[in-house]
Amino acid sequence: MELVHLPGPLRKFVEQRRLARECIALIPTMGALHEGHLSLIDHARAHGAERVIVTIFVNPTQFGPSEDLAAYPRTLEQDCALLADRDVDLVFSPSVETIYPNGHESFVSLESLPNHLCGRSRPGHFRGVATVVTQLFNLVQPDVAVFGEKDYQQLQVLKKMAQDLHFPVEILGAPIVREADGLAMSSRNQYLNEHERKRALGLSQALELARRTVMEGETDAESVIALMSEHLEGSGEIDYVAIVDEMSLTSVLSIDRPVRALVAVQVGLTRLIDNCRLEPQVTTP
Ligand code: PAF
Repeated sequence: MELVHLPGPLRKFVEQRRLARECIALIPTMGALHEGHLSLIDHARAHGAERVIVTIFVNPTQFGPSEDLAAYPRTLEQDCALLADRDVDLVFSPSVETIYPNGHESFVSLESLPNHLCGRSRPGHFRGVATVVTQLFNLVQPDVAVFGEKDYQQLQVLKKMAQDLHFPVEILGAPIVREADGLAMSSRNQYLNEHERKRALGLSQALELARRTVMEGETDAESVIALMSEHLEGSGEIDYVAIVDEMSLTSVLSIDRPVRALVAVQVGLTRLIDNCRLEPQVTTP
């Protein structure tokens, strides 16, 4: 496995793989890797990727001024060992100056998808994500790119961006990977103390409650949101509990087709998110 920090060697690697007509997958990450990230590699390979490029870059432009940019775990050596074990072909880990050199002034933003859910409490977050992912798409020119469904809004934002801007890349979402007790894996889970870790379980439990309630026949979104909110009360400060259309991310009133339930809760100092699909007993066409 190669580790490169500059666009030059990255491009050289990609050019050679292209000449060999190999299918290239890109997996953008911010490092502090866990099984959730590693499952994206398996997902890429299962979809025919012959070469897998993982990027590790803690992207400053997607953090707000009071967020955890400085504290975000940086574990490059450990991450590379995990990636080498998973047969990744190349890791691109650029510096901040490489991605945002002095004088950088080009950004990518979407009009409406970022105005919902996480985008409301994290203004500018998706602009930062869209900008760095655009740069990575341009540098790597991958055939496929894989993102975790845990960041469900991010996945929809990036799918829309790729469609709107005609990026010749297929964007794949990979299922959420959970700890044995249901907590969605996240690099930020390591911020939680023992007590917060227990409270954090409320997120996956609230979603499971919603899933079961809908399976049993409830179709009123407000009632399901009320049930989830009540369950989440002991977990922390609720940012949002929402049931939305899976593509537009706009709220739905009636669960008459598969929709997405999403939650964001501040547990101590750590903001956690999770989501799941809600499937009604009978869907209307
Ligand atoms: O999901 C993440 O880790 C980041 O938002 C991403 C996609 C790597 C962009 O910095």
